[in-house]
Amino acid sequence: MKTRRLHLKLLATAAAMSLAGLAAPALAQGAKVKVGLMLPYTGTFAALGTAIENGFRLHIAEQGGKLGGREIEFVKVDDESDPAKATDNVNKLVKRDNVDVLVGTVHSGVAMAMARVAKESGTLLIVPNAGAGAVTGAMCSANIFRSSFSNWQPGYAMGEVVAKKGHKKVVTITWKYAAGDESVAGFKEAFSKSGGQIVKELSLPFPNVEFQALLTEIASIKPDAVYTFFAGGGAVKFVKDYAAAGLKKNIPLYGAGFLTDGTLEAQGADADGLLTTLHYADGLNTPKDNAFRLAYVKAYKLQPDVYAVQGYDAAQMLGIGLNAVKGDLTKKAAFAEALRKAKIDSPRGPFTLGKNHDPVQDFYLRQVGAKENKSIGIASKSLADPGRGCKM
Ligand code: BEZ
Repeated sequence: MKTRRLHLKLLATAAAMSLAGLAAPALAQGAKVKVGLMLPYTGTFAALGTAIENGFRLHIAEQGGKLGGREIEFVKVDDESDPAKATDNVNKLVKRDNVDVLVGTVHSGVAMAMARVAKESGTLLIVPNAGAGAVTGAMCSANIFRSSFSNWQPGYAMGEVVAKKGHKKVVTITWKYAAGDESVAGFKEAFSKSGGQIVKELSLPFPNVEFQALLTEIASIKPDAVYTFFAGGGAVKFVKDYAAAGLKKNIPLYGAGFLTDGTLEAQGADADGLLTTLHYADGLNTPKDNAFRLAYVKAYKLQPDVYAVQGYDAAQMLGIGLNAVKGDLTKKAAFAEALRKAKIDSPRGPFTLGKNHDPVQDFYLRQVGAKENKSIGIASKSLADPGRGCKM
């Protein structure tokens, strides 16, 4: 409310000064930019939310605490990765706290509620993880941007890899919600193009981790390979259970890279050798990534992961937009135009945004070894989400 009152006061002052023939003050440049950070800080995705916030704050700190000449303030909400609470949570940020920008979240179901509110209210939204296809598909909007990926992208990249390896019959296993379904759909699209067949699609409700019955089923089907989407705490348990069930040595396991990102300490040797596809990898050894990793370790005493990169790039994107409009967020068209033209200098490697505002980026094929996701090549170059249903 206070921000809105200040904004109205500035507008009135600007109008009065312009009537009097005086130069108007730099509207909205005095006030801080209010960022509503809606992320999971509890539950299976808690570590992912923290890494995103860390990355976001790191970029702002590197810019001296300001983007586009304006200081940044935060209002934080723990969304608990709970879609049932998502609409209330995001409405509080928009209507009660009057945030200028929404940044969130990790879980696709929660992100879809955020996108709905952002689209209706016109509030700027930057999604720093959740890959829900609808966010940059049917619900796409001039004020909605993603710094991460669509669920389809890493799945599609891995479908090509598994087909090239010569596997013919694959079982998929994931959580039954948008991210799992869309990751499997992307995999299936690429894999079946080369004649591969999905012999069984297994799933369990999010965030359930009782994998035993499904692992027994995989053992009895004996497919050539398994493709999976799990992340966070669920990914740690799945990788450990897959090995403990004796499947790892007989049936190769492939995944969207979330399976082994930010999880390797906890997974230990059970993750060794796993192949995954993702838009980030360890040991890229580029000047940008080296500087980012050094700064991140110095600031947080933790190794960064893909979530930290996506948070960092969400802040970079906000900075690019704010610089273009000199801090004036009322200039929405110019803000969006700047991002559509931008080449974002990410630790993952430079990327641009597609027409639907999803990153067009390289997907690395990574292999786990010595507690790292080492890039062993590019699985899919400049892969763009198809943006199905997006009309902008
Ligand atoms: C998702 O819900 O979109 C998601 C969650 C964790 C990692 C990747 C995607």
